[in-house]
Amino acid sequence: MTTDYFEDLLKKPSIFIDEKALDINFIPEEMPHREKELTILSQLFLTLITNPNSISRKILITGRTGIGKTATVKVFGNMLIEASNKRDVQINYVHINCRKERTSYKVLIRIIHSLDKAFPKRGYSAQDLLEVLTEYLNIHDLHILIVLDELSYLIQNGGDLIYSLTRINDDMMKAQQRISIIGIVRDISCINSLDVSTMSTLQRNILKFEKYTKTQIFDIMKYRARLSLKENTISDEILEMVAESVFKVGDIRYGLNLLWKASKFAESRNLKYLNSECIRFGNQDLVSFSTQDAIKYLSIQKLIFLLSIIKILKKTEKSKISISEILNLYNILCENLGLKPRSYSQLWNYLNEFEKENIIVIIVKSEAIKGRKAFIEIQDIPLAKFERIINQTLKTKGIRL
Ligand SMILES: Nc1ncnc2c1ncn2[C@@H]1O[C@H](COP(=O)(O)OP(=O)(O)O)[C@@H](O)[C@H]1O
Ligand SMILES: [Mg+2]
Repeated sequence: MTTDYFEDLLKKPSIFIDEKALDINFIPEEMPHREKELTILSQLFLTLITNPNSISRKILITGRTGIGKTATVKVFGNMLIEASNKRDVQINYVHINCRKERTSYKVLIRIIHSLDKAFPKRGYSAQDLLEVLTEYLNIHDLHILIVLDELSYLIQNGGDLIYSLTRINDDMMKAQQRISIIGIVRDISCINSLDVSTMSTLQRNILKFEKYTKTQIFDIMKYRARLSLKENTISDEILEMVAESVFKVGDIRYGLNLLWKASKFAESRNLKYLNSECIRFGNQDLVSFSTQDAIKYLSIQKLIFLLSIIKILKKTEKSKISISEILNLYNILCENLGLKPRSYSQLWNYLNEFEKENIIVIIVKSEAIKGRKAFIEIQDIPLAKFERIINQTLKTKGIRL
């Protein structure tokens, strides 16, 4: 009898509705927690629609990596095109990644190709291309919004282009304004190497994207999970765990990769939903060197306590546990080894030390009746692997469990 591999695979429960929605290049329809930025952008560019070609907007967006600058601007671009189409205003949008197109020539070719796919790639100088562009816009009565993303990479080789693009028509009174620009940079200081007039033009409108808070990250991950995963495959508790890790890294891309890896892991285990072990797996398949070092130098007492935490987390399958849940097992392990269990306050010191070494996370929650309660979570290392490492380390210290 032959086995039908396809049928077998197809029978497996899938966690995904749409894997693509976790791709870092996927542009979602909404950008939770970037509504304010979208509103500001709309206000700034409104004139482009109400009074076509009367002004040229130039703005600079700044903010660290992975906080939605590129995606927000692309979502805004779609909104702008839609609104202009409805009103018979001709606005084009082109998004250029200057990390990819690092010279004035390449940037200009990309802009022109966005308008005219048939335009020949060779045979023109950058200066020619600039003229071709202005002429095209005039003939077709167009306005174009050019987004220069990762602008800092162009500043090194294409400062002159940035100058030209921000200056076109400036010297012509009453000329139609046909080019607007959004520059995106991580760090505002990179524009310091531009000439003074370009710099002052760009500095007039700066929109700074602030990093997300942990709750905002939670909402964003929940939204992206809703687009990509089936209903009831990920709980809020697990999403909180995801948000916690993403917050530490500060880059939403990390979260998207983490969700994808964790979901793949769940599928490979035939799970119907993601549990905390999936997240630990997604967080890291390798234990970092700093963690390995930290473990190597822990005393036997501390290793036993850490091992108790791991074992309880594994057994209960909870994402976080309280210190009282660990004590029972910890006492048993100590007794078996003939060790005197440490006091509660000493164990607290251990926990603080573990947290400093990034081995665990301590989460303090307020509870209505009992006051504040601390929970322990392990995020970065799959528990099974972690347990193995601790057992090996104990073995090197002459302890066998
Ligand atoms: N508010 C948000 N809602 C949904 N997805 C987001 C949000 N912010 C960021 N992302 C996603 O996170 C990833 C990184 O965002 P990106 O715009 O590339 O960041 P940046 O340009 O600031 O480095 C993208 O895949 C983006 O879709
Ligand atoms: Mg970007």
